[in-house]
Parts: sequence; C-alpha cells; structure tokens
Amino acid sequence: MSKITAAITGINGWVPEYKLTNQELSTMVDTNDEWITSRTGIKERRILKGEGLGSSDLGANAVKGLLEKKNMKAEEIDLIICATATPDMLFPSTACIIADKVGAKNAFAFDLMAACSGFLFSLSTASKYIESGAYKKVIVVGADKMSSIVNYEERTTCVIFGDGAGAVLLEPNEEGLGIQDAILKSDGSGRDYLQMKGGGSVNPSTHETVDAKEHYIYQDGKTVFKFAVTNMADVSAEIMERNNLTGDDIAWLVPHQANKRIIDATARRMGVGTEKVMLNIQKYGNTTNGTIPLCLWEWEDKLNKGDNLVLAAFGGGFTWGSIYLKWAY
Ligand code: UT7
Repeated sequence: MSKITAAITGINGWVPEYKLTNQELSTMVDTNDEWITSRTGIKERRILKGEGLGSSDLGANAVKGLLEKKNMKAEEIDLIICATATPDMLFPSTACIIADKVGAKNAFAFDLMAACSGFLFSLSTASKYIESGAYKKVIVVGADKMSSIVNYEERTTCVIFGDGAGAVLLEPNEEGLGIQDAILKSDGSGRDYLQMKGGGSVNPSTHETVDAKEHYIYQDGKTVFKFAVTNMADVSAEIMERNNLTGDDIAWLVPHQANKRIIDATARRMGVGTEKVMLNIQKYGNTTNGTIPLCLWEWEDKLNKGDNLVLAAFGGGFTWGSIYLKWAY
C-alpha cells in the first residue's frame, strides 16, 4: 500500500460585510490612508457587527460553505480543529461551538492557540491524524474576530487587524500530494512584545485591568516586525533547502498577511517573484488565523493539481513556521 499523505481537498472563506476603510479610521484616530498604505499595504478590513456574535460565527459560516461546496454532510466530519486567538470565551473551545453550530455530531473538536501561526500549527497537527490512518475527514478552521480585542483609540494597532475566517478539509491522499513537510518553531521569550495582558490566570479581569485597557491587544510593532521579517524568511528558506526547491519550483507563496513589507522580504529571500505571492492584505488586513485560508480560498481557481505551495507565518509567542504542500486538485 502506498504511503498516506494529508491533502487539502476543499477550501472556503467567510468575511463579514462591513468594510472599515482607512478613510473611516482616519476619523477615529490620528492616522491617514497614506501612512497605513505605505507602512502596511492595508486599505480596508472587515468587521463583524451585531450583538452576541463571535469567532465561532465566522468559523461556522466558513465551515457551512465548505460542506456545501463539497456536497458533504456535517455528520461525516471526524475532527474539527479551530485555530483562534479570539475564542468565543476561554472555555468551552470555539471548535466545540462551531461543531454544534454546523451539526458535526460525530466530530471531536478542540482549539489550538498559536496566535498568528495557529493555522499552520493546526494544519500540521491535523495532517498527523490523517497520515496515521486514524481519521479520514478533518476540518481545520482559522477564525478570528480581532475587532473584539482591538482598542480603536490606539492607532498603532487598530489600523492593522480585521475579522475573518477560512476552513479547509483534509483527506487522505495516495498519490503523494498534500502536505510534504512542516517546520514549526516557538520562542516564548518574545511574549512581552505581542500579548493580551488581562483576562488570563495570571491577571484575571477586574475593573482595574479594564481601566488599564489590558483586555486589548498590545504590540511593540517595531520589535515584532524585526523578528517577523527575519524568522518568516529564514524558515521559508529552510523548508525550500530541505526539500531541494528553488524559487522556480514554487507555484505560490501563501504568507500570513501581517504587513506587506514582511511578505515582500520573505518572497525576496525565497527568490519568488511577486506574481507568485498571494496577497489580499489590502482588503482584509491581518485576520490572524484567517489570513492563510482566506488566501487559498481566493486563489482556489488559479491553483492546479501538483502545484508546489509554501505557507509561512509569524505571530505572538513568538511562534512561526512554514509548510510545504502539493496542491491536490
Ligand atoms: O501578525 C502578528 C505579527 N505582527 C506583525 O508582524 C506586525 C509587525 N509590525 C508592523 O507591521 C509594524 O511595526 C507596524 C505596521 C505595526 C508599525 O509600522 P512601523 O513602520 O514599525 O512604525 P513605527 O511603530 O515605527 O512608527 C513610526 C511612526 C511613529 O511616529 P514617530 O515616533 O516617528 O513620530 C508612530 O507614532 O509612525 C507613527 N504611527 C502612525 N502614524 C499614523 C504609528 N501608527 C500610526 C498610524 N498612523 N496608524
């Protein structure tokens, strides 16, 4: 019997309708379209409006659409892994809530937290369940309602983030397609540069933590930028070298959409031309765990069976990594 690999066999994305433009942000904080565009590449981002809606709603919409596209029943799903940095609540997991909302009665479900690298870490985890033969239909959903932890009075962070979700179906493949290799890394000594201080077990929410705005995302942008540029480029170069790939062999770079300048630096280091880089940061900003699946979703029509893709991300933790896969359809 040939070796089983884990291949993406379906993809769907979901973003809320409301568009928060650079123009509107410039009426809220001291910023302008020129600064945001030149420093980040972002023009607008989507915001989930409405009472009682959270990341599970973004994720459930992405998964429902995926099931429709695949003409698949929710009961067929074996496992749902949700990558999120903005869970509906600390527990139960957002994955359990998504499973319930889509009717995945036979699936077990759990969240995986690795900040902006969560989708890659989840994809790699999911692939092991498939490669081992344990499960046959695994959904990885990246979903983040970043607007729930963004301080819209703080110009250095509020211009960057947006809400969105994407979901992929992973199934066994016997043609050698799908996930080929993964390099995943973390360094917790970087935790102070990108974090949400309040609400956890060290610093549970109180009036004081809210007054100090510790329920919002904190980022030392310059430091994170420096680490992101180096590490995302290094790990992408490393996975290419390990798999004897040159820039010409790569059909698409699928980078986490945090900052266009970080993406450009990674592509340059890999020797991949800009025409082969998936970039939709201008429309959605940084949706954290949504960025990579939202790219795959938007580029699905342009992908061909056998295409070599390199996925790369960097995020809080610090966490970072790269996955090399062969597109399977
Ligand atoms: O996805 C997780 C990982 N996250 C990342 O990878 C993000 C990495 N960091 C970044 O993308 C960038 O650091 C930012 C986009 C967050 C900031 O860009 P920067 O080029 O590093 O700007 P800066 O923080 O060095 O600020 C430069 C100047 C400052 O003014 P002074 O001190 O030079 O007078 C800021 O106060 O720009 C000012 N500034 C702004 N001006 C207009 C900061 N934010 C804004 C703003 N509008 N929104």
